[in-house]
Amino acid sequence: MNAQLERLLLTGPLLIAAAWLLAGCERPPVQSTQQGYRGTGMVQIDNPRIKAAQAAARPAVPPDAPPLPVAGPKARDVFQNVKVLGDLPVPEFTRHMAAITQWVAPEQGCNYCHNPDNLADDSKYQKVVSRRMLEMTQHLNADWGAHVGATGVTCYTCHRGQPQPAKVWFTAAPGKRSQWGSMLGNDFGQNHPNIGLTSMHVDPFTDLLLGQEPIRVAGPAALPNTAYKMPIQSAEKTYALMMHFSEALGVNCTFCHNTHSFAAWDSPPQRVTAWHGIRMARDLNNAYLVPLTNTFPKDRLGPTGDAAKVYCATCHQGQNKPLGGQAMAALYAGLTKVAAAAGAAPALPPPEDGPTKSVLFFGVGSADLLGEQAKGLAQLIVTMTEKKATVATISGYHSAAGTLAANQELAKQRAFAVRDALLAAGIAEARVKLEKPQQTGANVAGEDPAARRVEVTLR
Ligand code: HEC
Ligand code: HEC
Ligand code: HEC
Ligand code: HEC
Repeated sequence: MNAQLERLLLTGPLLIAAAWLLAGCERPPVQSTQQGYRGTGMVQIDNPRIKAAQAAARPAVPPDAPPLPVAGPKARDVFQNVKVLGDLPVPEFTRHMAAITQWVAPEQGCNYCHNPDNLADDSKYQKVVSRRMLEMTQHLNADWGAHVGATGVTCYTCHRGQPQPAKVWFTAAPGKRSQWGSMLGNDFGQNHPNIGLTSMHVDPFTDLLLGQEPIRVAGPAALPNTAYKMPIQSAEKTYALMMHFSEALGVNCTFCHNTHSFAAWDSPPQRVTAWHGIRMARDLNNAYLVPLTNTFPKDRLGPTGDAAKVYCATCHQGQNKPLGGQAMAALYAGLTKVAAAAGAAPALPPPEDGPTKSVLFFGVGSADLLGEQAKGLAQLIVTMTEKKATVATISGYHSAAGTLAANQELAKQRAFAVRDALLAAGIAEARVKLEKPQQTGANVAGEDPAARRVEVTLR
């Protein structure tokens, strides 16, 4: 009895002190929204006061002029140097120019990109970058529907009326990222408070959103085992990236995770959207931003001479859906429909879908399932969800062009992409098996698009 009283006397004031300290974190009211099953603690906690202040601080989205009649001569036939938007009728083309001026350079006007004496001239780097950005935006809307959905993306999603988006990242200076030989040993990028003011890795983005390092770090068993090795530094990078996700979307971890296990996929659908978002960010950085490095003036590059790159915050800027889910892209045919006109990617064969076998095709050097192929994947998921006893065996194939080691790695990444998508859709791990990468024999020259494929056999 006495001991209990003593404990109460000791813990009572401590509890009060703790409650008092915690109350200092955020002034009420707070609002909680249930995200997942009751009792799993999956609630999104918001503060309406802070949300309202944030909303008030956001600039208003510029109004859209309505689309113009589709008749009239095409821009490519009237102007001299139109390579991406050539299929648009002239009035629509001009409306697009007015809109991108509003989105990217409202203060500077047309001459931010154009030489006023000759609009066809490409001497300003801003125009060259913009042409590539037009292609990137088309690619986003046409091929990344798995992430951007019906909301879509315009230049405004990232730029918000500024020539340079407010949220971009560069690779951290070499001394900061990881450094051997100094008196302090190697800090593995730690202790340079950055994301969420933590001391976790200062730059998780270079390896995870530009490189293809795995983000999933948890081992398959509770106890350490020799077959599975993942350095603690990788886990720190994963957590740093996750902090970025939370900050970028203005949400907490339970928005995407059922926190009984961060590795398990019995999580809200947002996690699958985020999974596609990771692949999308990698694609944008590798295919569009990095190749622009030499186009940008030197003083615009980062500490390691790299161009600015995209992460979640570039589009999201604190909201779970960029611009609160306001759909702008659909009004601009030049940012959505004419994607194929640029002739960027050669057509792939349509995905094959059968009761015992699915075949999905990939672009050159790519491990992403885009456009039609993503639909083929969705069909496979439906089949596996309906036939609960089927087991899928996944084999990645590569062409004979290029070096064997790189090709095998690519074939493996392709097989992983399909496996991860199946797991992400809730298919049990035991129902998904991987086979070794294979080379397609018949295709020596390596141009045949059918060679770059993943075959999924269902048994
Ligand atoms: C953010 C950069 C940017 C801004 C601002 C901009 N443009 Fe353009 N403009 C481009 C790009 C890029 C092209 C080439 C498009 C293509 O290749 O499909 C282009 C092409 C053109 C052309 C075709 C020229 C030719 O003969 O080839 C005209 C005309 C034009 N723009 C007018 C305008 C006008 C008028 C404005 C201001 C209201 C404007 N642009 C603002 C980037 C811009
Ligand atoms: C997914 C995000 C994203 C979208 C969408 C996007 N951009 Fe960009 N843009 C960037 C990034 C990142 C940079 C590099 C910024 C930096 O260097 O700081 C950039 C740079 C630019 C620049 C160079 C600015 C400068 O001063 O150096 C121009 C011009 C530009 N974009 C035009 C466009 C146009 C036009 C569109 C729409 C057709 C567009 N962007 C869509 C992310 C985006
Ligand atoms: C916007 C959605 C989203 C948010 C918010 C988010 N995560 Fe994640 N998380 C993911 C996705 C998607 C993956 C899997 C990535 C992959 O497979 O490439 C993941 C993976 C992880 C992993 C690795 C699991 C494994 O299999 O080893 C951990 C740990 C993790 N998250 C922790 C967190 C923590 C802690 C937070 C909050 C600070 C958080 N996450 C917030 C989407 C999210
Ligand atoms: C090119 C711009 C862009 C980038 C970059 C981007 N997103 Fe998104 N994201 C969107 C758009 C647009 C939507 C809205 C989709 C819709 O309406 O269905 C969205 C939706 C989401 C959602 C679903 C939100 C909800 O309320 O259901 C999640 C989760 C998400 N993004 C996570 C991420 C993560 C994590 C990253 C970084 C790895 C990322 N996004 C990068 C444009 C982007």
